Amino acid sequence: MSRVVVTGRVPDAAIEKLRAEHEVDAWEGPESIGREELLRRVAGADAVVSLLTERIDAELLDAAGPQLKVVSNVAVGYDNIDVPACTGRGIIATNTPGVLTEATADIAFGLILMATRRLGEGERLIRAGQPWKWGMFFLLGSSLQGKTLGIVGMGGIGQATARRAKAFGMDIVYQSRSEIDPAIAAELGARQVDLDELLTLSDVISLHCPYGAATHHLIGAEQLAAMKSSTYLVNTARGPIVDEAALAAALHEGVIAGAGLDVFENEPQVHPELLDLENVTLVPHLGSATVETRTAMAVLAADNTLAVLRGEQPPTPIG
Ligand code: DGY
Repeated sequence: MSRVVVTGRVPDAAIEKLRAEHEVDAWEGPESIGREELLRRVAGADAVVSLLTERIDAELLDAAGPQLKVVSNVAVGYDNIDVPACTGRGIIATNTPGVLTEATADIAFGLILMATRRLGEGERLIRAGQPWKWGMFFLLGSSLQGKTLGIVGMGGIGQATARRAKAFGMDIVYQSRSEIDPAIAAELGARQVDLDELLTLSDVISLHCPYGAATHHLIGAEQLAAMKSSTYLVNTARGPIVDEAALAAALHEGVIAGAGLDVFENEPQVHPELLDLENVTLVPHLGSATVETRTAMAVLAADNTLAVLRGEQPPTPIG
């Protein structure tokens, strides 16, 4: 029997699977586990099931000890894990691609609708008890039909967002590091362009690329200035892909029309200037937040863990 440390609360279905084969030490606190407590608990662990709020770095791997075999992230994004540090110690790192694709695309498209149709503004106005009545020019937004959606990062979530956009009558352009199956691109009517063209062409831009050194502040003041003043930017990927201070300034000055953000540069902090702006919709990292999706993510993370501890190939290793 191995010792599995789970760094935060996850659905019971995953804990039950792990407990059927191993000793499980799961953090049950209402708040995130503190760093000190985490370093203490991982000592002697054979597996760590991690949430994206926990940094899995060399210090933590050393604190765990040489018996650690697997770090299993309950997230598709793994910028919280130092993968080379894992690999260098012979530790397998895994993530949860696929199972959160549709839920995240739903939130991306929800933010596209909220931003372009000014739903957050309308909601805030009613809740603030402000007087209103139907008016020809009251809270006019922007239609999606016939507009161009630019997708940065055309992996599974980008493609799922494109499918939704197609159903709304949008044209799709995309920029992606990896090759897309031409049949899928054709079915979506999606055209590959470079980032510069995407920025200048798109009416709505949705970010779906992974975060890393290559995508840090991929969207900054220069890129925002290249967009049309009628463009909306949506980010459901990772906060630091966007320079939040530059975005706040661009929204304030009307450089772009609006934005929808599910992720932030320094979560859970939000740039204070964004909080004062009407033309940005802010939601607290809800991309995968459905009961079904979170259960599927946790169960996949458990399956990855169990496979490595059995000496088998995990279903979704990183890399
Ligand atoms: C992920 O899995 O990377 C998501 O951000 C979780 O919501």
